[in-house]
Amino acid sequence: MSDKYALIGNPVAHSFSPLIHAEFARQTGHDIDYVRLLAPLDGFAAAVAQFRAQGGKGLNVTLPFKLEAYRLATRRSERAEQAQAVNTLKFVDDAVFGDNTDGAGLVRDIEVNLEFPIVAMRILLMGAGGAARGALPALLEKKPVTVVIANRTVAKGHELAQRFSHLGCSACGYDGLVNRQFDLVVNATSASIAGALPPLPPDLFAPRSLAYDMMYGREPTPFLEFARTQGARGADGSGMLVEQAAESFLVWRGVRPETAPVIARLRAGEFL
Ligand code: ATR
Repeated sequence: MSDKYALIGNPVAHSFSPLIHAEFARQTGHDIDYVRLLAPLDGFAAAVAQFRAQGGKGLNVTLPFKLEAYRLATRRSERAEQAQAVNTLKFVDDAVFGDNTDGAGLVRDIEVNLEFPIVAMRILLMGAGGAARGALPALLEKKPVTVVIANRTVAKGHELAQRFSHLGCSACGYDGLVNRQFDLVVNATSASIAGALPPLPPDLFAPRSLAYDMMYGREPTPFLEFARTQGARGADGSGMLVEQAAESFLVWRGVRPETAPVIARLRAGEFL
């Protein structure tokens, strides 16, 4: 019988994760069955327990359950502790191991796939929610010169930055970005989902800068459109999606699949 895995969230219907993991399984010769698991908003723990009782080996966790997954884990990786959010659960006997592969997936896409070294860069991270929390420790680990968090609710940005202030992290509102320049601007807000753009000033992008939107879709997001008009190079989150999935596959199966062919197929619209 195949080993059972799933993506748990609400909603999950439009996720590409089952197709990505099916590709990884085919490529590595692993026999896994990976499905979507829609959990009621008030029923995350019960849905996880049921999945385990049915022999489930591990879960990917998406919105809005990453914090609950963090709490549910009985053992956590260092990077999950730092992000205070979990997107990967692995069930080993009675233990529930919680990990966070989002940050590693983002950094690998930026540094390996996009060939953009983060060291010594000035980074602007937009947003202070779950997505930003996953990204921040992984970005800081690469030793940028600075990371500024800009968030609509300024206090939330300060709260996040404070935990990492010893590593050169600070926070401000969008109005605090006027006359500042960055080499890498990461959009970790959910604004793109609503077709919105945070209020960014012009001249934000330094020469040869990269604009990275953690969201992805058929059309460029408003943020990537803005970046293009400002002369910056742009990338959407499709590479990160595949990279974080590969990192989860590694956690579960002990082998890291090849991501490039899967990213190419995703970009070509073959999974639509
Ligand atoms: P996620 O887990 O995806 O990060 P979240 O925790 O709801 O989701 O956080 C969403 C982030 O996007 C927040 O930083 C939010 O800003 P606030 O903290 O001020 O709410 C940000 N966001 C959402 N819509 C936005 C918009 N239109 N402009 C700017 N920021 C926005």
